[in-house]
Amino acid sequence: MSNTEVQQDIASDGYSIQGKSIGEAIKRQLETPFVTGTDVEWDRPFYVGDLAELRSQYLKWKARLPRIEPFFAIKSNPDPTAAKYLAALGVGFDCASQAEIEQVLDMGVDKDRIIYTHPYKNPSFLQYVAQQETPLMTFDSESELHKIKRIYPNAKLVIRILVDDKDSVIRLSRKSGVPLYEVEELLSLAKDLELNIVGVCFHVGSGCKNPNSYYDAVLRARQVFDQAKSFGFKMELLNVGGGFNESGITEGATFEKAAAVLGPAVDELFPSNDVRVIGEPGRYFVGSAYTLCLGIMGRRRAIIENEIDMDVIKKEKESNNYMYYINDGYFGSFGMMCLDPDRLNIKVLRKNGEYFYGKEINEDEKYPCTIWGTTCSSYDCVSKDTKLPVLNEGDWLYLSNAGAYSYVVASTFNGFDIPKIIYINSDKQ
Ligand SMILES: Cc1ncc(COP(=O)(O)O)c(C=O)c1O
Repeated sequence: MSNTEVQQDIASDGYSIQGKSIGEAIKRQLETPFVTGTDVEWDRPFYVGDLAELRSQYLKWKARLPRIEPFFAIKSNPDPTAAKYLAALGVGFDCASQAEIEQVLDMGVDKDRIIYTHPYKNPSFLQYVAQQETPLMTFDSESELHKIKRIYPNAKLVIRILVDDKDSVIRLSRKSGVPLYEVEELLSLAKDLELNIVGVCFHVGSGCKNPNSYYDAVLRARQVFDQAKSFGFKMELLNVGGGFNESGITEGATFEKAAAVLGPAVDELFPSNDVRVIGEPGRYFVGSAYTLCLGIMGRRRAIIENEIDMDVIKKEKESNNYMYYINDGYFGSFGMMCLDPDRLNIKVLRKNGEYFYGKEINEDEKYPCTIWGTTCSSYDCVSKDTKLPVLNEGDWLYLSNAGAYSYVVASTFNGFDIPKIIYINSDKQ
């Protein structure tokens, strides 16, 4: 499917492209809510997805890391529209489950462009990939090797190694990746079981803040590559994982800085073009492509947290410090986004009918506030540390860079729907 066809497909899904700019689409949505074929309604949170941002991220990747094939980590945002769009650009996919693999195969993506990266796969999912002959997958334990031997002995295996992820927002090494001192045992078992190890992979952690983590990880991968070769495995794949920041992150370890370390590291340590190099960017592709719009359902004056004791409870009667209650929350889009307070840069979208998208508001006009999610749970707090001007019920907020690990973890707890997405194509390239 070409990208023009993807856009036509979006229209036939009932979403359609709502203009060329995020600000324009938001305004239209708030003033004349788009309801045809969806139930996006005027008082619901919604996302604006920009297809052009996906394309511009793809082009930037190709320019900075030409040797590394991106396999989009679809877990970060399985939006079918984004997935189709990326597939049409030629991007591969990193999948964690049968449902994700089915989604990708149904789009007609070649099996060679899919890697199954869950180190502890459900046996029935393994049976499925065996039937589909989708061979590329990762492992990091003896138990997984025995399972693979039982169910899909011809799989092409990629050993996931533990790397230093202490400088990343979401550390993955505490859960996945074999320490180098255990690699030999695993290689030896794979040899005894006559399994087929073809590569090495790692993940430096999501939202990586230290570009040098990539150099260190590639160095470790080289060591394991050589070790595996000495066992007689024909090593042909290096998978450099994810961790790359979205374009909305302009300070610290930007994608450009990570690529400036990773690209040369791969060329230096894996000079042979016989080694296929892939990566698994998730948030890099979708993070900045989605903006989340949030309505204020109500407010009340702040309570001083440590004084919630029935005898001494006191409200900040005269202050402008408010508790705002919005229409999405921790059990909705924010469950994972709350793990990274630096990314929770919630701003004013509409105040008293005036639009502020993309505009800065004077710091003097802002007051500390807390933002609470839509369910009745007192754990449903989105931010305890935001500064906003005084807002009212009916005003709106927005969060840029909201495409990764956001609505994908949302539940319908308390009967609240998962926000819908409207699309634009800002044609920025
Ligand atoms: C195995 C694997 N690959 C890739 C990713 C994507 O990471 P990121 O979104 O940081 O690029 C993840 C995220 O959890 C992952 O677990």
